[in-house]
Amino acid sequence: MKRSLRSLDAAALEGRRALVRVDFNCPVKDGVVTDNTRIRASLPTIQYLRDKGARIVLLSHLGRPKGGPDPKYTLRPCALELEKLLGAPVSFIEDPAGDAAVQATKRMPRGGVALVENTRFHPGEEKNDAGLAAVLAQLGDIYVNDAFGSAHRAHSSTEAVARLIQPAVSGFLMEKELEYLGGALEQPRRPFVAVLGGAKVSGKIDLIEHLLPRVDAILVGGAMACTFFRAMGLQTGNSLVEEDGVEMARGLMAQAGDKLVLPRGAVIAEKLEAGVATRSVSRDKIPAGWAMFDIDAASEADFAERIRRAGTVVWNGPMGVFETPPFDHGTIAIARAMADATAGGATTVVGGGDSAAAVAQAGLEAKMSHVSTGGGASLEFLEGKVLPGVAALNEA
Ligand code: 3PG
Repeated sequence: MKRSLRSLDAAALEGRRALVRVDFNCPVKDGVVTDNTRIRASLPTIQYLRDKGARIVLLSHLGRPKGGPDPKYTLRPCALELEKLLGAPVSFIEDPAGDAAVQATKRMPRGGVALVENTRFHPGEEKNDAGLAAVLAQLGDIYVNDAFGSAHRAHSSTEAVARLIQPAVSGFLMEKELEYLGGALEQPRRPFVAVLGGAKVSGKIDLIEHLLPRVDAILVGGAMACTFFRAMGLQTGNSLVEEDGVEMARGLMAQAGDKLVLPRGAVIAEKLEAGVATRSVSRDKIPAGWAMFDIDAASEADFAERIRRAGTVVWNGPMGVFETPPFDHGTIAIARAMADATAGGATTVVGGGDSAAAVAQAGLEAKMSHVSTGGGASLEFLEGKVLPGVAALNEA
């Protein structure tokens, strides 16, 4: 357990500068944030600190700028979006180095908020450079990490800086993410069902191996199901198969026994195009020239039934090419079954990235126990890896 922001008493916050690492890595188009989910998710921490009279200095990266400042990746749109959400001004610190930045943080009013320009504009950030961390550390009296989405990166603003400021605690979003994802792994209500999809088995092997001893069932969809079909000796037509993953899939099937549940059939088409003619076939009948782009209705019903009966469900990866209707059907069916499971008292956790996007597309975010704001971070956490941004924080 990591020490929480809530454990700090009033004297530790009132008038003090809280250096808060957030993950404002949001999509931006023409200078406007097009999805503010991650900014909204950081509001409880920011609002709490404002209410306690702290001076809040926010750090974040945006995108993957190469080697220096690039206006395409400025955080200014995020500052504007945060101002709108808070209904309060957010000042902008262009360069964290030097006395001007330090003075700016000290001159802020109590409850004031400032955002520092993209940490990745500094080459030291991704190298976890101690010099950059020391520069950042000058901007705060306490450190709060609320950037779960970046916690798998050992960067100056997520790792090295946490070792230079005391206390270094988790924010409320970080805490919630660890509570739901950690709770599923450590104390799942049973049956515990994992739903995994996506293109490649190789990208999910660590995840499957970490989950297998913990879950009651793993339901597999997405193109990676075809690699398993091939391992069963089935023909898969033009479906995306990871040829060098077939052996791996065979090994996983032997290890998992009947815990691993594959789709019974596939929705197939001759090409991947919205509205194209499709057929539903059983998994041993995928003809030459056709490819699987979604799970079929029988698999949907089977998966949905298992999800509705579960006590805990963790989902990572779509069941089909959900960006191209009608191949979104299986993925939406999973989202609906999870919403039903939540309503029935189950704990439902959606890993970030594509599955979170699918849940948002279905308008079902509010019907999940938790939708993670971290794509790579939630995957690494569920794989059992140590997240450096979490490890660097004080123990409770
Ligand atoms: C994410 O979007 O997953 C995080 O913000 C981390 O971004 P990165 O993959 O560029 O490190």
